Amino acid sequence: MKVLIVGNGGREHALVWKVSQSPLVSKVYCTGGNAGISRIAEVVDISPTDVNAVAEFAEREGIDFTIVGPEAPLVAGIVDAFEKRGLKIFGPSREAARLEGSKAFAKEFMRRHSIPTAEYRVFEDPEEARRFIKEVGAPLVVKADGLAAGKGSVVCQTKEEALRTVDRFMREGVLGDAGRKVVIEEFLEGEEASYIVMVNGTNYVPLPTSQDHKRLLDGDRGPNTGGMGAYSPTPVINEETERRIKEEIVERTLKGLEMEGIYFRGFLYVGLMITGDGPKVLEFNVRLGDPEAQPILMRIKNDFLEALIRFYEGEEVTLEEDKRWALDVVIASKGYPENPQKGLEVHGLEEAEKEEGVIIFHAGTTLKDGKVVTNGGRILNVCAYGDTLKEAKERAYRAVSKIHFEGMHFRKDIGDKAFKYLP
Ligand code: AMP
Ligand code: GLY
Repeated sequence: MKVLIVGNGGREHALVWKVSQSPLVSKVYCTGGNAGISRIAEVVDISPTDVNAVAEFAEREGIDFTIVGPEAPLVAGIVDAFEKRGLKIFGPSREAARLEGSKAFAKEFMRRHSIPTAEYRVFEDPEEARRFIKEVGAPLVVKADGLAAGKGSVVCQTKEEALRTVDRFMREGVLGDAGRKVVIEEFLEGEEASYIVMVNGTNYVPLPTSQDHKRLLDGDRGPNTGGMGAYSPTPVINEETERRIKEEIVERTLKGLEMEGIYFRGFLYVGLMITGDGPKVLEFNVRLGDPEAQPILMRIKNDFLEALIRFYEGEEVTLEEDKRWALDVVIASKGYPENPQKGLEVHGLEEAEKEEGVIIFHAGTTLKDGKVVTNGGRILNVCAYGDTLKEAKERAYRAVSKIHFEGMHFRKDIGDKAFKYLP
């Protein structure tokens, strides 16, 4: 069968890699693509958010099954466009994608269904938002309502910072329409983790657990990014915490969607803060996380495509997890996340890929005169398996040390937060 992966980053390279291993597959296509994807899939030059053009392509080419990576096409209604043409696609409809597309919608949904999350208020008037901040003081978190590629949430340690963020989002419009409405929420303390499930109505199957590293710099300093590294599984989610996540969050969410007449089929990503009071939702995403998907997919032993199609059709499936750990170090370009530098040649990839247990997924790369060059903010995901987390980490960083390009930047502490939970 022919399979289409929508998107062109590290997550999509990992999806193409995993899906290509299925005996069911005759050919994998990918919209956009990068230097890594183009080695193993046919790259189709259509923007993922041009949803009708993608659907027309799928119809013309006779694509049997499509998996969507990023949020933007989902929020733009790619699933509706495919289903209108009778094409099979794994992802939520535009309506269901509001769980990610509007933070205000997601917060109000959680309130209606008693799903644990930070206390919050929604504002459409900057004066009212400013008054509220002056009244309650810091720390608090200001979040743009709409999609902002990881730049829409600002943890503010002072009142001044919060007031400034409100002005930038609501008055100066630095995020366009995405920031005209904001959610202001209580600052939660605890440890973050990512819990992703495949959903079909009220049925769900958990994927392996993981932990992202959202801040740019070591020790969780610097601005939020799309994610600078991840590993799987995470000991932050123990058995008891997982039970609570399922009962208090995932099951209430799926019940709530059903009660509201919203059909959800796709990946549901629960971004969590594990607090002293238990797990609370920081955000919902309606897709796999990037970079979490890379170590997660490395640890799924099933024929993932076959499992996904059976699940899509309404069957029960169980996923088998690799006992090994997987860890992903993201290498970003100079200037990420503000002004990434493009067009710089990447050296040492072949040597890095020869390291034991290492797989490299490309993100913002492209080919120029046969050479791999930078073409975005996050450039590479250097991933490794290990029998222990320590081994996975050592292997990944050994491979990272073989790679060079001007101004490259990566965190040196991916996985470190897990060690205190481990024997
Ligand atoms: P979000 O876009 O909602 O996932 O937020 C991005 C990041 O900001 C999260 O991964 C957290 O590190 C941080 N964050 C968001 N909301 C809160 C909160 N209520 N308390 C503390 N940190 C938060
Ligand atoms: N890594 C976080 C995300 O994909 O939103």
